[in-house]
Amino acid sequence: MATTHGLMALAILISFLLFILSPEQSAAAGRPAGLLDRGTPSTEMVAGCCESVVKPVGYKCQEFEVKTEDGFILSMQRIPEGRAGAGSGGGGGGGERKQPVFLQHGVLMDGMTWLLNSPQESLAFILADGGYDVWIGNMRGTRWSSRHASLDSSKSAYWEWSWDELAKYDLPAMVDFVYQQTGQKMHYVGHSMGTLVALASFSEGRLVDKLKSAALLSPVAYLAHMTTPLGIIAAKVFLGEILTNWLGMAEFNPKMNFVSNFLNKYCHIPGVDCYNLMESFTGKNCCLNTSTVELFLKYEPQPTSTRNMVHLAQTFRDRTLSKYNYESKVANIERYGHDTPPVYNLSRIANNFPLFLSYGGRDRLADVTDVGLLLDDLKLHDGDKITVQFVKDFAHADFVMGVSAKEIVYNAIIAFFNHHQ
Ligand SMILES: *[C@@H]1O[C@H](CO)[C@@H](O)[C@H](O)[C@H]1NC(C)=O
Ligand SMILES: *[C@@H]1O[C@H](CO)[C@@H](O)[C@H](O)[C@H]1NC(C)=O
Repeated sequence: MATTHGLMALAILISFLLFILSPEQSAAAGRPAGLLDRGTPSTEMVAGCCESVVKPVGYKCQEFEVKTEDGFILSMQRIPEGRAGAGSGGGGGGGERKQPVFLQHGVLMDGMTWLLNSPQESLAFILADGGYDVWIGNMRGTRWSSRHASLDSSKSAYWEWSWDELAKYDLPAMVDFVYQQTGQKMHYVGHSMGTLVALASFSEGRLVDKLKSAALLSPVAYLAHMTTPLGIIAAKVFLGEILTNWLGMAEFNPKMNFVSNFLNKYCHIPGVDCYNLMESFTGKNCCLNTSTVELFLKYEPQPTSTRNMVHLAQTFRDRTLSKYNYESKVANIERYGHDTPPVYNLSRIANNFPLFLSYGGRDRLADVTDVGLLLDDLKLHDGDKITVQFVKDFAHADFVMGVSAKEIVYNAIIAFFNHHQ
């Protein structure tokens, strides 16, 4: 029974962290059961992001490698200008240096996040066409950032990190790199865990000296308000089970057969509707395009470390934003000098640092109540330095994949950037 609970909780966590198909979209995509069963990567995926998805639609694109302080080799892509040299907008076209923007994806995703829709609908292309110099980050462990100076990703030592390290090493390495390359401060855009790691980093005084502002889409900081019945089961069961049964699994790869097999099996239990299950965790996205969903299924989800998943589950369980909990007083003392992990205090984010937050009324990952807690931490922020947008009909994936995201969210981001030059 315990194992069943563990598996169920694992499935739930996958469901709640994956981006999500509504029942209609999954039916339209013709994948009623095989959500995660997508076979081996094609050579196209090995080719690199520029070659496989950016250049084919007519944009210049450059690949870079950035090494983190702890030895991970990350890939970054740069789209330096708009299509056919277009773009002399707010980003400063013509002979001027263009304004850099750095885009950071969320958990189980990679830089493809910003490129999944058509060029007219995808944020990376919209910014390039608007005259910005666009830089795309890829966190450690994802397809294009899977190397390390000395560790092999097939070994568990490679996977000993959580979002603490993403905030401490990956983001600073990539932001520093853009700063070095362009000699300019940049704007930041994050989605989902790409907002969590930024907020954690900012609260410790990192990054802000190299950023002009940050736009946070589907901002995730607190995760406590996942109040569906299955969410409560996950909260109670997941951690214990994961730690005893699953921690041997250093890499959390949603594409691995045993996970998809289990999910497929679980989804066929009479009375269990997996798509409604997912929807109940992440919210019903209003505006996804079926062909974008197809592309999403082709490229995502991406691996992360099991420890990162456990850390996210701790954030959910403990109702605080803390560093990774070793689930042992001795181990916590050894690591932190205290029997509980240190808290990230978001009130420490500089009050005059320009922030744009956009959150959705149907988003069950960045739940409205949890966003409220985040806004409460930011209540002393200078009034003219914070812009908050509420999009009633949006759920988690709409912010990066929704066909109406440009009109509703991206135009507002660009106006915000223009205001905080
Ligand atoms: C959906 O995607 C396809 C393929 O990119 C595109 O032709 C179509 O216009 C999109 N639909 C909407 C509503 O954006
Ligand atoms: C968080 O930081 C703020 C501002 O520095 C401080 O007033 C507050 O006491 C801190 N909260 C905690 C829990 O440490």
